Amino acid sequence: MPKRLLRTKHITAHGTSGLKKCLTAFDLALLGIGCAIGTGIFVLTGLAAATQSGPAVVLSFIFAGIASAFAALSYAELAASVGGSGSAYGYSYVAFGEFIAWLMGWVLLLEYGVGAAAVANGWAGYFINTLANFNVHLPEALTKAPMMGGSINLPAFAIIWVLTILLAIGVKESARVNNIIVVIKLSTIAIFIALAIGHLNTANWHPFMPFGWFSTLDNGKNIGVLAGASLVFFAYFGFDAVSTAAEECKNPQRDLPIGLLASLTFCTVVYIIVSGLLTGIVPYTELNTASPVAYALTKLGYTWASTLVATGVLAGLITVLLVLLYGLTRILFAMSSDGLISPVFSKINPDRQSPTRIILMCGAVVSLVAGFIPLGELAETVNIGTLASFVMVCVGVMVLRIRHPNLPRPFKNPWNPLIPVLGILSCGALMTFLPAATWHRFLLWIAVGVIFYFMYSFKHSKLHR
Ligand code: ALA
Repeated sequence: MPKRLLRTKHITAHGTSGLKKCLTAFDLALLGIGCAIGTGIFVLTGLAAATQSGPAVVLSFIFAGIASAFAALSYAELAASVGGSGSAYGYSYVAFGEFIAWLMGWVLLLEYGVGAAAVANGWAGYFINTLANFNVHLPEALTKAPMMGGSINLPAFAIIWVLTILLAIGVKESARVNNIIVVIKLSTIAIFIALAIGHLNTANWHPFMPFGWFSTLDNGKNIGVLAGASLVFFAYFGFDAVSTAAEECKNPQRDLPIGLLASLTFCTVVYIIVSGLLTGIVPYTELNTASPVAYALTKLGYTWASTLVATGVLAGLITVLLVLLYGLTRILFAMSSDGLISPVFSKINPDRQSPTRIILMCGAVVSLVAGFIPLGELAETVNIGTLASFVMVCVGVMVLRIRHPNLPRPFKNPWNPLIPVLGILSCGALMTFLPAATWHRFLLWIAVGVIFYFMYSFKHSKLHR
């Protein structure tokens, strides 16, 4: 067997194998929905509508959803054939070899670490709103990052520490807890829809596309529906977590594609309805707030519902945060076990049977990012990483079809290579709509990754040896 294909077994060895194969397609879909619905829809919708898309933020969600669908089909093919719990990192190992896999892992670290910081910011917005409903007001300097005129976003900083400590003492998200939280999240959305629908004022949808399709302002900020799509794409980040559960499904060949596509379709429909209603009940110009859904309900006079929804959002975002923080430590653990980063990162605390040290280190770094960098910047940084990993997964499908044509493929994309090519084009296009500053940060991250690989990982890699 080629060395790279052995890698599949290798991932499996320290992945989740040995665990009960108990997840159904329905559980997988709920897992995807649980990871995806969060700050993107509850916060970024408002930011994108007010500053980039206007009411046409609905179109932004549709474009981002279509790009994600092509990537989801490619994920489904690789998850069913290559398997393993390493997701894009593992697939890249098999398709491209170690160097590209390293870069993918390096990008995933950025995605998960900065993603957790972004969701913590979204959580903080609703937390501050809920406190205000109870007449508790934090000093403004403690609610905003320095770039937004404050000193630190203290709630965002603190929530990362609370969850880090929970993870360090061994709390893990179970499929059951996830299912309960998904129900809470969806109830929250249902309450919003039920109340908002009676107050829809279609006048708020005019002008529909006040910022046009795409343009760049003098300050380097991109505006327009397509720029909005590259921001709200954040709302789809996380559904690919379904692929990491490959080894815990009853029938991965059938359930993975269903789980991936069902969660993606469901999220897209929810995003269209919520963003359409939000911009239909409040003028889009007012939506650049930290908790736009709660703000809109308060404005309609439903203070009780605003508090209820904000509380539901707080609970819902905690699971997204736990998944991201847990995912971050798991990727570090996998890369460290492969020898690509220091073995310190795969040390298990014998008392707690969890990698306590990595968890605390991740918490320290992510909490600082969450406290000091504002949400918009964080989300765009995550998106460029996620889009790059989606592009690589699509390329991986094509490369593997050529390199290993006989690899068993229980789920095969039809009309090969149409789907991966469309995935590369659409995700690549969304990347080009991101601001230059985001590109600079991303390229810097990649450059550091390349240097690190040749200075350390190449020499210590276990697969090389
Ligand atoms: N997609 C997730 C969210 O929107 C990360 O919070």
